Amino acid sequence: RINAPQNAALAGLRVVITAGPTREPIDPVRYISNHSSGKMGYALAAAARRAGAEVTLVSGPVNLAAPAAVQVRPVVTAADMLAQASAAVDEGCDIFIATAAVADYRPASCADQKIKKSAEDMALALVRNPDTLATIAGRENAPFTVGFAAETTDVAHYANDKMQRKKLNMIVANDVSRPGLGFNSDDNAVTVFWPGGQQEFATESKAGLAERLVALISERFRQA
Ligand code: CTP
Ligand code: CA
Repeated sequence: RINAPQNAALAGLRVVITAGPTREPIDPVRYISNHSSGKMGYALAAAARRAGAEVTLVSGPVNLAAPAAVQVRPVVTAADMLAQASAAVDEGCDIFIATAAVADYRPASCADQKIKKSAEDMALALVRNPDTLATIAGRENAPFTVGFAAETTDVAHYANDKMQRKKLNMIVANDVSRPGLGFNSDDNAVTVFWPGGQQEFATESKAGLAERLVALISERFRQA
């Protein structure tokens, strides 16, 4: 009975989670992306489901199986991610968790044909992508929103700054400069910040960490 909730921390709540990388096309055969594996987002989706939530996972391209009894909406680009996450939130969402590693920029245009090489140098014009998390957190009647922050330096400072700027209820800060942790690895260690508090989580598997994060998120959600 792997589909049955194992605790009731999020019973009756709707949770939408973004996960994985995005891909921004350059031409029909090339794209800009990053090394996100999607593991943290998928582990959170499974843990939220086990806690009794109805879970929608808006997922960029990853090599992971859909967690049991979780609805997956596949996306490719940052623009798709915003559209699908917004649609999922419109259908009802109590808690929104953004773990996706969204490409900050995309090519200003996607070439119709494969770009041929010619000069020794070439430049690619890029434009800013929309921010799914900030858009959803900024909505009227926004759900309880949880962001992630991947940082290599001044982790607490940048994470708190992101939480304030994007109007988040919580932010999970990841020091991605630590080898073997975070991006594309099986383990993670994070510090979670919320207005007026913080909690550190020592290194463990993303599955184990996801259980603890879901417990903390449900506690903060109920106090909000
Ligand atoms: N995020 C998002 N859409 C984007 C960029 C980021 O939803 N276009 C979300 C991520 O899923 C994460 C949070 O915003 O939950 C922070 O992402 P991060 O890349 O750490 O921060 P940015 O705001 O993009 O700032 P920077 O990359 O300059 O540090
Ligand atoms: Ca970014």
